[in-house]
Amino acid sequence: MIGQHLLSVDQLTKQQVVTLMDNADTMRELDHKHIIASSGLAHTNLGLLFFEHSTRTRISFEIAARRLGANVILLQEAMSSTQKGESLTDTVCNLVAMGINLLVIRHMQQGIVQQLAEQVGRKACIVNAGDGAGEHPTQALQDIYTLSHCVNSLQSLRILILGDILHSRVAHSLIKLLVLMGVTDIRIVAPKNLLLSDEKQLKGTVVHDRLTEALPGVDVIYILRLQQERFSDQVGTVIFDQSSYIKNYRLNPSHLSLAGNQVHIMHPGPVNQGVEISHQLVDSDQSIILKQVSLGIPMRMAILTALSSPNMIA
Ligand code: CP
Repeated sequence: MIGQHLLSVDQLTKQQVVTLMDNADTMRELDHKHIIASSGLAHTNLGLLFFEHSTRTRISFEIAARRLGANVILLQEAMSSTQKGESLTDTVCNLVAMGINLLVIRHMQQGIVQQLAEQVGRKACIVNAGDGAGEHPTQALQDIYTLSHCVNSLQSLRILILGDILHSRVAHSLIKLLVLMGVTDIRIVAPKNLLLSDEKQLKGTVVHDRLTEALPGVDVIYILRLQQERFSDQVGTVIFDQSSYIKNYRLNPSHLSLAGNQVHIMHPGPVNQGVEISHQLVDSDQSIILKQVSLGIPMRMAILTALSSPNMIA
């Protein structure tokens, strides 16, 4: 089973990920045939609690949940009673008391979604939609799913992850998921002050100093957003020079000749065009950034279905 909550990719087995991808394919086929996928969430009140900005994750969960027949309730921080001093734990307990049995939560504080899950226990199901610089498991699942549609085999995949590894919850989840799925060629490029200091989190990867030395032969370049809003957070303070970053780490069209024409470019969004990636590459033939977004919906439908009927991926 996926478990009561989905908080980290650490909870998943390889077989569960494969099953989620198969189920996402089924959701996609049904949607293409204009068949309502399932009324599996018909009696579910699903709360979207976003205490940090989001476009893709929030809308993707909302579309996925509505397609499955859920009653979707949106709570945004600015309109909630947390503004009157209520703790987040009290907010969540009150929502659960009102019958909201599935909560998708994003928060800027690393680890807080896990704490809330401990608090509610088995009374409701909680999905981590991104906790600070911690994890973003559903993004990693949609990325693995996208890769499975775009490359011949995950096992022989050669992937380069480029940018702000330190603050990227996407990278933290994705690296672990790639390793779980048997990917053995994971290359990392980042300035030293944006690299993870905990070597355990880089297990299964090879860190390169220079972008040009890491590019030859890669199938996928996965670019990360510079998370400047986290440059002074609980992890520490980063001294950062954007012009130096652009000079040494921005992906430019000239880099593609080193990787090969068949290379795919991924980015979880939102994209800082011209900073971590040049404008031309965002809309290039190599970019599968919008495919990632589209495939996020069937993957989230599969995730929500698995959480509401856990035997589906037992
Ligand atoms: N990838 C991602 O989490 O995007 P949002 O911040 O727009 O949800």
